[in-house]
Amino acid sequence: MLSASAKEQRYAALATEIAAVTAGEGNLTSRMATTACLLHFGFDAFLWTGFYLVDPDKENELVVGPYQGTMGCLRIPFGQGVCGAAAEARKTVIVADVESFPGHIACDTASKSEIVVPVFDAEKNLIAVLDVDSAVVSAFDEIDAKWLEEIVGEIFSV
Ligand code: SME
Repeated sequence: MLSASAKEQRYAALATEIAAVTAGEGNLTSRMATTACLLHFGFDAFLWTGFYLVDPDKENELVVGPYQGTMGCLRIPFGQGVCGAAAEARKTVIVADVESFPGHIACDTASKSEIVVPVFDAEKNLIAVLDVDSAVVSAFDEIDAKWLEEIVGEIFSV
């Protein structure tokens, strides 16, 4: 497990790299795929890293977007699982132990803890959630929340 200061430094470097690589790229899929890739390979503890998009054709439903990891479920209704809870609340959700989260959706049984961060566009519309899973219990804390919120804020709220 990384120390708090090592984690802060890793996130700071990744935030700079993600902003630099995606600068000037207007395509949302490209920005999401690049962000998922750089975050995923930036941390050993990240088992699954990716986006679920708010489906414009289906009310209150998420559909899987760009990700790194084993196969994720394709659709998650708002209010279901950790992703659906974060989408409904429009707030970051940290789950230290997925087995104690009622309704957790186990796409990969290796996943033990999870963080889901809402992604907004410039008009504050919810457009997606960023989901990161770990094979380690209690992998995520307020440092992850702060940086992941900042990274998706800078990349997608412009
Ligand atoms: N565990 C998530 C579902 C998505 S996968 O982990 C990729 C959830 O409960 O929302």
